[in-house]
Amino acid sequence: MKRREFNLLGLGLLASSLPLAIAACQSDSEPAADAGGGEFVALGSMADLDAQGSLTSDDFQGEKLAVIRDPGGSGELLAVSTVCTHAGCTVDWDSAQGKFVCPCHGGSYNPDGTVSGGPPPQPLTTFAAKIEGDQVMIQV
Ligand code: FES
Repeated sequence: MKRREFNLLGLGLLASSLPLAIAACQSDSEPAADAGGGEFVALGSMADLDAQGSLTSDDFQGEKLAVIRDPGGSGELLAVSTVCTHAGCTVDWDSAQGKFVCPCHGGSYNPDGTVSGGPPPQPLTTFAAKIEGDQVMIQV
C-alpha cells in the first residue's frame, strides 16, 4: 500500500468513527435521567416526608404535586398531580382516610392516583419518584 492510499484510508476511518465519538461525548454530558423520561429533581427530604406524611408543591417545575409513602406498607414513594381531573380543584392527602380527597365535589383518589369515588373521570397524573440519599427525587 502506498503512503497516499494509507493516508486516505486513515482519513476514511477517522471520518466514519466521528459520529460515534460525537454521540459518546453527548451522552456523557446529559443530566441523570431514566430512559423515556426526564430528569429527576429533588423535591424535599425524606425526613420532612416522614415527619409531615406528605410533601407537596404548588409549583414544582410547573406542576402541582404531592408525594406520599404507600400506606399499604411497601414504603414505596407515590407521586401524583394534585390537580383534580373533574374540574381542576386541588386535592389533598387525607392520611386518616388513606386517600386524596377533593374539596369541591367530593371526588377521591387512591394513593396511586386511581379514582376511588365521586365525579372524577380520570386518575390523577402520576410521576416517577425515587430516594437518593435523604432526598425525594421526582422525574419531571
Ligand atoms: S373538581 Fe374535584 S371532584 Fe370536582
